[in-house]
Amino acid sequence: MLTFTQSLVVSPPLLSYIGKAKQLMFHNEPDFHSLLQPENELEARLLDTPQFQEGLNWGKPRFGHPEGKVGLHVREVLDNVNLSAANETTRQQLRLIAITHDTFKFTEFQLGRRVKHHGLLAREFMEVYLNDTTLLDIIELHDEAFYCWRAAYIENQQDAATRRLENLLETIGENLPLYFDFYKCDTQTGDKIQAPLYWFEQVVLGV
Ligand SMILES: [Fe+2]
Ligand SMILES: [Fe+2]
Repeated sequence: MLTFTQSLVVSPPLLSYIGKAKQLMFHNEPDFHSLLQPENELEARLLDTPQFQEGLNWGKPRFGHPEGKVGLHVREVLDNVNLSAANETTRQQLRLIAITHDTFKFTEFQLGRRVKHHGLLAREFMEVYLNDTTLLDIIELHDEAFYCWRAAYIENQQDAATRRLENLLETIGENLPLYFDFYKCDTQTGDKIQAPLYWFEQVVLGV
């Protein structure tokens, strides 16, 4: 018969619990399955990859992102998706974009220089899992609307901003409503400034 101590050591559920408790105590690392509540096999598989584990755990509190870690930002985006998606298909599309869009921030800079934008890194990673050009384009270009606004209003580069916006609209094409839905869910988080969102809404959607 096992002693109480032995039973503690061999109990798999208890080991799992201790592992999670140690993770939280010593690494301050959220359990991203519990946090993001994957709704299908693909979402669950992605969360299990080393890239997502590292990427969702990346980030310190900063302007725009007082929550710090990417995974906590994704939780905010998913909450917005739940509130705004017009139907279940759109909700599932927006969820997948949300879970992936910022995950590769942890690896976009090397030796202080941006090697590739995290949107492009996310797209390249997701091409193995996903055969949907619409979603891949939005994952890759999710920050472009902000960069267009920044070029026009922060950098005072009107021509560059116009060209950038034209390229974005040409690539996104008829999927602009989905792009805008995601941009809104992504921007209405943390303490991000909302001016780029209002600008995009007015210029592109004429609202
Ligand atoms: Fe981003
Ligand atoms: Fe984001």
